[in-house]
This record gives sequence, structure tokens and C-alpha cells, in this order.
Amino acid sequence: MKHKIVVFASGSGSNFENIVLKSKENYIPAEVSCLVTDKAGAGAIKRAIRYGVKVVVVNWKPRYLGEKNALCVLEKENPSLVVFAGFMKVVSPEFVSHWRGKILNIHPALLPAFEGTTNAIELSVEKRVRIAGCTVHFVDESVDGGPIIAQAATLIDPDEEIEKIEQKIHSLEHKIYPAVIKGILEGKIIFDQQNNRVIFKDNKMQLSSIFSIEI
Ligand code: GAR
Repeated sequence: MKHKIVVFASGSGSNFENIVLKSKENYIPAEVSCLVTDKAGAGAIKRAIRYGVKVVVVNWKPRYLGEKNALCVLEKENPSLVVFAGFMKVVSPEFVSHWRGKILNIHPALLPAFEGTTNAIELSVEKRVRIAGCTVHFVDESVDGGPIIAQAATLIDPDEEIEKIEQKIHSLEHKIYPAVIKGILEGKIIFDQQNNRVIFKDNKMQLSSIFSIEI
């Protein structure tokens, strides 16, 4: 039976769409069964409708009710992975405890730089960083502090238009996120719960395909 993935997104949904496409192409051995969003106006919704993916809008105010409803969706869908793709909410330890080792997040910076913020790209530009990038990690009780799975970096010119820098980072995200999801579903990337770290079954993967630097 094919794996199921549930994606959580609050924004435009370019990562969501990319994951849907990669699963339709069978690069990711799974079907995106549902989009969960906390924003009724999220661009991700239109993309989901275009690809026939079920959408559930969950009101996140108050958080405990949002999480309760989201947990019900997850219980029903029973996905192999819960993928946060531009989901701008911090989930509680209680939420994490139900899906530990199965929740992924992507952050548009080289963590631990610019952790815990929803505007990491703007802050990177403000701080005039020259090497920017993105990180995929498992979600734990901390904010953006869970075990790192993959990172990709690119040189940037902080005087460049922010839209161009965003595009560069998004294009890295669109490469590493599907690669990580594929690696986990194929059993090549494993969450070691006892030590709260990541194990790579395939050494080549650890060294090359999901850790990349573009110059
Ligand atoms: C992505 O850049 C993602 O890394 C970021 O939101 C963007 C969503 O873009 N996530 C965070 O900042 C989480 N703190 P998208 O809606 O086009 O996929």
C-alpha cells in the first residue's frame, strides 16, 4: 500500500505543490492525502484544489482546539509523515508527543541561525549574510531546534532584490524537501528516538544529495 502524507501549510504553498508534483511523478513513494491549513485564504488551498487534494481548514484560535482538530484529521488519515511546509504555528509538546519522529519542518535559513522566526529571509538580508539556505528537521518540543536532516546553502548578495533571494532559497527547498521525504519513506533516513538524532543508512546520501552548496 502507498504511503500517505499530510501537509500543513499557512501560506502560498509552493513547497506543498512541489511535494504533490513529486509524488504524482512517483519520485516520492506516497500520496498527499490532505492539506491542513490554519488560514482560510492560504494560496496553498487553490493549489490543492487544482490537484484534487482534500483540504481541511482548522481554526487555530485557541491553539488547543486547533491542535485537537488537527490531531483528529491525522488520526483519520493515519499518514506515514506529517509535513510542515510554511506552516507558521508552533505546536505544543502534547501535539508532538502523538507524532514524534514523524513531523518534518522546513526553515528558510541555515539553522540554528535565525531560528524561531517567521521572517528568516528578511532577517538574513538585514544582517547581510553572504551564505543563506534552508534546513529540513524533525519537529520536537523546541522551536526550530529538532534534529537536522538536511541543509542546502547558496551564496547571496544582500544588495540583490529580496524576491530574487527568496526565489533562490525556495528553489533549494524544492530540491531538499522531496529528497528528505523520499529518503525517510524508503527507510534510508531514520529517526533515532533514543538519542534524538538522525541516522543515514546510505552514507552517500548524507554527504551529497541532500546536503548541497550552490555557488
Ligand atoms: C518557506 O520558505 C518555508 O521555509 C517557510 O515558509 C515558506 C513557505 O513558502 N517556513 C517558515 O518560515 C517556518 N518558520 P511556500 O508557502 O511557498 O511553501
